[in-house]
Amino acid sequence: MLGPPGAGKGTQAKLLAERLQVPHVSSGDIFRAALSDRSLLGQQVSRYLERGELVPDDLTIAVVEGRLSEKDCENGFILDGFPRSVVQAEALEGFLSERRTELTHVINVQVGERRIVERLTARRSCRQCGAVYNVLSRPPERAGKCDVCGAELLSREDDNEETIRNRLRVYEEETEPLLTFYGHRGLLVTVDGDKQVEAIADEIIRCLSG
Ligand code: AP5
Repeated sequence: MLGPPGAGKGTQAKLLAERLQVPHVSSGDIFRAALSDRSLLGQQVSRYLERGELVPDDLTIAVVEGRLSEKDCENGFILDGFPRSVVQAEALEGFLSERRTELTHVINVQVGERRIVERLTARRSCRQCGAVYNVLSRPPERAGKCDVCGAELLSREDDNEETIRNRLRVYEEETEPLLTFYGHRGLLVTVDGDKQVEAIADEIIRCLSG
C-alpha cells in the first residue's frame, strides 16, 4: 500500500488482510510497538518517528525482511508503509526474488493535502489493541474509549500539524518516486482515497482480482 500519510493505507490494509486472510505487515506499527516496549529498536527509531523523518533504510529493511521471513507470510502479505524509498524498493525486489516470489500489485491511495491534515488531526488510536478511529469519520461508540477493548484512545505523537507537514514533505521527496518505479514495472494501481472506506476496499479487491 503506497500513499501519503493519512491516505488510509492502514485502514485499507487491515480490511484487505482480513478479506484475503494474509498478514498485515506495517513498518510504522512495528516501530510504534518497539517504542511502547522500550526495546533497543524503539530507542533506535524514536527520534525519527517524533520528527516524521524516515528511519534509515538499512535498519528498516532489516526489520521488515525479518518480519516477512516469518512463517505466516509464506502465502502472501499486505505491506503497508514499506517500501518508502527507492533503496527500500530495490532491497524488497532482491529479497522476494531470492524467495522466488514477487509483488503482484502496488496500490496507491490518493488523497489531497487538505483532507490529509483533517484526517490525521482527527485520528485517535488505541494504544492497547491498535484499533484506529477518527473523531470526524469513524468515531468510537463511547467518546475516548476503544470499541474493541475499552482502553483509552490517544492521538499519535506524530499527528500534530507541524510533523504532518514534515511527513508530507518527506513523502514527496523520498516516497513519491516509487510511483514511477512501480509504474515502469506495470504494478501500480491508483485508487481514489477520498471515498467511503468500504467503497475503496471494494475497488481495491476488484483491482486485485482483475
Ligand atoms: P506510518 O505508520 O507508516 O505512517 P504514515 O505513512 O504517515 O501513514 P499513517 O499511518 O499516518 O496513515 P495511513 O495512510 O495508514 O492512514 P490511516 O488508515 O491510519 O509511519 C510512521 C513513521 O514510522 C514514519 O514517519 C517514519 O518515521 C517511520 N517509518 C514507517 N515506515 C517506514 C519506512 N518504510 N522507512 C522509514 N521509516 C518508516 O487513516 C488516517 C485517518 O483517516 C484515520 O483516523 C482513519 O480512520 C481515517 N480514514 C481512513 N480512510 C478514510 C476514508 N476513506 N474516509 C474518511 N476517513 C478515513
